Amino acid sequence: MRTETTLPACKHASDAGDPLPGFAFDPSDPWTRTFQEGLEGAGLADRSVYEVGIGSGANIVHMLERCGAGRVTGSDLDPRLPLLAQRVVERDAPGLAHRFRPVPGAVSLIDTREAAAAMRGVDAVVACLPQVPDPLDTRCARFCAAYLGGAEEERCRVDDRIAHYYPWSHFDALPYNAVGLGLIEALLRQVRSCAPRARIVLNFGCRVGRETLSGIFRANGYRPTELVARVVRQSECTGIGFFAALEEASRGPGEEPGFVCEFYADPQGRSPLTAIEAKRILDADPAAPVYHEVCVVQGDPAE
Ligand SMILES: C[S@@+](CC[C@H](N)C(=O)[O-])C[C@H]1O[C@@H](n2cnc3c(N)ncnc32)[C@H](O)[C@@H]1O
Repeated sequence: MRTETTLPACKHASDAGDPLPGFAFDPSDPWTRTFQEGLEGAGLADRSVYEVGIGSGANIVHMLERCGAGRVTGSDLDPRLPLLAQRVVERDAPGLAHRFRPVPGAVSLIDTREAAAAMRGVDAVVACLPQVPDPLDTRCARFCAAYLGGAEEERCRVDDRIAHYYPWSHFDALPYNAVGLGLIEALLRQVRSCAPRARIVLNFGCRVGRETLSGIFRANGYRPTELVARVVRQSECTGIGFFAALEEASRGPGEEPGFVCEFYADPQGRSPLTAIEAKRILDADPAAPVYHEVCVVQGDPAE
């Protein structure tokens, strides 16, 4: 397991003088670096790949240059990002830019006809999508208030909240939405129906634990393999009240612990914290170092 100790919380590419605007997910973020290491081991050479949630386009450049991907398509819920990604690919990998095709507009998962058509027949689908319900989602706000005695504190910048949160109530029909993986489960189902032979490579915050992450793959017809993992600092931009509420909500009748999340007090990941403990530390000092793992999991169609 690797460790990341130097995360400058809420750092954005534009803050560092990079021409990328602030709403683009920071390509130097340790989540992205972990994801890219995982992508290198995912067998993408000469393959056609679709990235759901392309962000700044940093992964597109990486997959073309470092992973030898044959062709890459991608889309994002933020309509500014396909255009930005195209500019970044043309700037950073000019000789390979003809192998990238962005799907324009705001596309949630592959919810448009153009996105679904572009995904059909690809060899691999990759994504790093939000795994924390939006504290402003009415149902999530009520859930947190019921179990934490108050609403979750808002931590996100307005212009990039969809990089951190997803609308919890939209995915209520999906079993793994209960642990904040509703958007991920919806993606697995869409890929299974649109590109049933595709390998899927996902970047996860392991706050809900490896067993749960393996479970969501198996429940949706995929064999999971972990490619890489690293301990990172909990981002100051993302609240963890949902996870603490989850632990409170799942306590047994005698107050015994039910579902327990995986946070750490140290960058080596040796001193475990529950979400309730981690939240207490962050409530006292939002800049306090609290850690969790990020891991990249590859899923191959089970049959
Ligand atoms: C955490 S960032 C990751 C960006 C990039 N894939 C990376 O790893 O550097 C999440 C990205 O997913 C996008 N996103 C959020 N919800 C989405 C959805 N429902 N469908 C597609 N993209 C979404 C965000 O706009 C953002 O670009």
